[in-house]
Amino acid sequence: MAQYDLTLTIAPYLDRHLVFPLLEFLQEKQLYADDQILKAKIDLLAKTNMVDYAVDIYKSLYHTEYPLQEMLDRRTEVMERLKYLEDLAAPLVSFLQNPSLVQELRPDKQYNLQMLHDRFQIRTEHIEALYQFAKFQFECGNYSGAGDFLYQYRTLCTNVDRSFSALWGKLAAEILMQNWDVAVEELNRLKETIDSRPDSPLTQLKNRTWLMHWSLFIFFNHENGRNGIIDLFFQDKYLNAIQTNAHHLLRYLATSIIINKRRRNMLKELIKVIQQEHYTYKDPITEFLECLYVDYDFEGAQQKLRECEELIVNDFFLGKQVQENGYVTVPLRDEFLENARLFIFETYCRIHQCIDIGILSQKLNMTYGEAERWIVNLIRNARLDAKIDSQMGTVVMGTQHSNVYEQIIEKTKQLAVRSYVLANNVAATSSTIQASIAR
Ligand SMILES: *[C@@H]1O[C@H](CO)[C@@H](O)[C@H](O)[C@H]1NC(C)=O
Ligand SMILES: *[C@@H]1O[C@H](CO)[C@@H](O)[C@H](O)[C@H]1NC(C)=O
Ligand SMILES: *[C@@H]1O[C@H](CO)[C@@H](O)[C@H](O)[C@H]1NC(C)=O
Repeated sequence: MAQYDLTLTIAPYLDRHLVFPLLEFLQEKQLYADDQILKAKIDLLAKTNMVDYAVDIYKSLYHTEYPLQEMLDRRTEVMERLKYLEDLAAPLVSFLQNPSLVQELRPDKQYNLQMLHDRFQIRTEHIEALYQFAKFQFECGNYSGAGDFLYQYRTLCTNVDRSFSALWGKLAAEILMQNWDVAVEELNRLKETIDSRPDSPLTQLKNRTWLMHWSLFIFFNHENGRNGIIDLFFQDKYLNAIQTNAHHLLRYLATSIIINKRRRNMLKELIKVIQQEHYTYKDPITEFLECLYVDYDFEGAQQKLRECEELIVNDFFLGKQVQENGYVTVPLRDEFLENARLFIFETYCRIHQCIDIGILSQKLNMTYGEAERWIVNLIRNARLDAKIDSQMGTVVMGTQHSNVYEQIIEKTKQLAVRSYVLANNVAATSSTIQASIAR
């Protein structure tokens, strides 16, 4: 399953702190050797200030009580620097920690800076120190402290580039604290900033690519995320970024469309993109859609669906587990399978006028009874214009499908590879139709 793992592809687009949750997940899934992951963690940590965490991992990796001297030296260094920055930022921090003083700030930066200067002797260097202190706290893993300071820094800072960095830092902090509502707001703010900055198109493209990767954390956790991801990724500039340098994001876009009944209308556009990128990126999820909508290959789709299931369970963003009544489930996998089956069924119905429930149940990998109940529910929920003939064990489609049926037969007739499957399907259909007429 490691062949479908995107961690190494995605990591270069993330802040190193955001990579930790992915590594934790991999460790749990045991897709790689434990030692390998622990080493990767130590490498990541070496460039952060999370020295105690690094020491813990080192001890467990090498089964020792004694960390390297350099780790202990680094710890001392970090503590000293933290103290230094704390002192430097102290005048502004103590002002900000006093609610009655903070109330005197106005939505006017120039006024605020002047006021801080005249009444509290707080100067630009103190404001700069706040940024450095916040960044250092972030590196130490104190995301809540960092998030608060970065927010306050932005209300005072007049340097647009610094303010932009602070926005990225704030977004990372909110993601790491799993404050999804706030994270969505920061994401939108950052998106607007990227779109409006006078950067070169290439720089903007790179920033958008980063933003999309960071957004995965939010979209697969926030309740409205499954709409949000489709809205964002389908915007021209973002879709362009995917097609230029982040093809693997198609996995997440495709999954979101498959599980989002309200965005079914985007399916056609998605399939077009998947086909365009066929030679640069594919995985069982994109292949499932191709089997079904490009090749009308039902056996292939069924095969891919099994691979999709494995892929989802082993993907950090998709495979989130939930405990329910003592059972562990992967909600997104279940929804995915349910919708994917519906896709298979709908496509099958478009091609066939009269469907044998026995054959269909095989295609959906359900028992006869399950398939029948499932279809009855579909019909009842008015999603399907069809009738069940329970004596014959068939589903008879409403009339509007017949045109589509003929079109598809016409379209696929020439294709030699598929003719075998098709011939079988057509034979099955005509014999059931004849059987109905004979009655
Ligand atoms: C995080 O930073 C804030 C602000 O400096 C501080 O009050 C808090 O004690 C820090 N938390 C930890 C766990 O160090
Ligand atoms: C995002 O944009 C800023 C400048 O606006 C640039 O410095 C930075 O390198 C860009 N990010 C990436 C990943 O290219
Ligand atoms: C059908 O589903 C069962 C689990 O429900 C699975 O074990 C089996 O491999 C599946 N068979 C096919 C042909 O997909």
